[in-house]
Amino acid sequence: MSKEKVHIFDTTLRDGEQVPGCKLDTQQKLIIAERLDLLGVDVIEAGFPISSPGDFTSVSEIAKVVKEATVCGLTRAVKKDIEVAAQALVHAKRPRIHTGIGTSDSHIRYKFNTTKDKIIERAVEAVKYAKSFVEDVEFYAEDAGRTDNEFLAKVCEEVIKAGATVLNIPDTTGYCLPEEYGAKMKYLRENVKGIDKAILSCHCHNDLGLATANSIAGVQHGARQIECTINGIGERAGNTSLEEVVMILRQHPDLNLDTNINSRLLNEMSRMVSEKMGMIVQPNKAIVGSNAFAHSSGIHQDGVIKNRETYEIIDPADVGVDESSIVLTARSGRAALAYRAKKVGYELSKRQLDVVYVEFLKFADRKKEVADNDIHLIMELSKLEIEN
Ligand code: KIV
Ligand code: ZN
Repeated sequence: MSKEKVHIFDTTLRDGEQVPGCKLDTQQKLIIAERLDLLGVDVIEAGFPISSPGDFTSVSEIAKVVKEATVCGLTRAVKKDIEVAAQALVHAKRPRIHTGIGTSDSHIRYKFNTTKDKIIERAVEAVKYAKSFVEDVEFYAEDAGRTDNEFLAKVCEEVIKAGATVLNIPDTTGYCLPEEYGAKMKYLRENVKGIDKAILSCHCHNDLGLATANSIAGVQHGARQIECTINGIGERAGNTSLEEVVMILRQHPDLNLDTNINSRLLNEMSRMVSEKMGMIVQPNKAIVGSNAFAHSSGIHQDGVIKNRETYEIIDPADVGVDESSIVLTARSGRAALAYRAKKVGYELSKRQLDVVYVEFLKFADRKKEVADNDIHLIMELSKLEIEN
């Protein structure tokens, strides 16, 4: 049975670039956008064109070079924003305007000081206006995570009538639990008239570390687009991480969902974004962290050397990592030492290994990690014992 497609909407260059200190110039954004296109993302959110002349130029240049993906520009539900976004996207092969407004009680009361009816009016007006420039209009209901489902469904219904092709349901504050976010998607699928005409989209923030789990719950309950960023960068604690959701869907064929992403490019993409944005990737980050395929405890190393499937659920090559690594520390066992020693040219008998292992442990207790050139030194130190 062929799998259902989940669209990947990458917002590294918009929500990701909002991170303090991660500002990129147009040239850097162009390089990332072309790489994202190659990676196979369906949509590149290139920026927020009205926010600054620099952002306008970036969106407009990206629109010219991207070959496959839809290029999207963000706006508020404001006519001027929409006009400027349409202008920036004029050369895009597949342009999308992403417009919207806050729908939660706190946004309606404190941000807009208005009523629910007026919010719907503004949402519909914005979608209709965007639709006069481009066919593909995505609507976001900001803070949908804390918006009551009945009102959210009403907003969705009205913007679909106005022509929205995608409905973005952001958990803007990263508050929802996966069950709650999944139930929200289910409610919308079951209660919004005309929902078949639009794609439901997950846009989750990571304030409670739940962005990935919430996005997966969203697609399990009918959403077919995930908005995410490379390395999960984004406002505050970040957005859903692209590499995580892609690999979850790939490693779980039972979900019967997949994306167009060429996962072999993930590692390189992660490094490129990290370097250009000056934002380091935590070593234990899933999929792309430097320790994601590094085994350091003796029990795990022994298992992986016998058969990699004992402690690895992903083939490193599938995400562009040459091979998993066996890191030598004072917690490593004889199997790991023999394995690494063989790699640098020493085939050890059982008796030799016993001797070298004693020397190795003394060395490893002084040094956090034993490198290949340390192995040569340990062999020298063990030589006399072996020869005797
Ligand atoms: O988090 C959010 O609500 C957003 C919207 C502007 C789409 O980024
Ligand atoms: Zn966001």
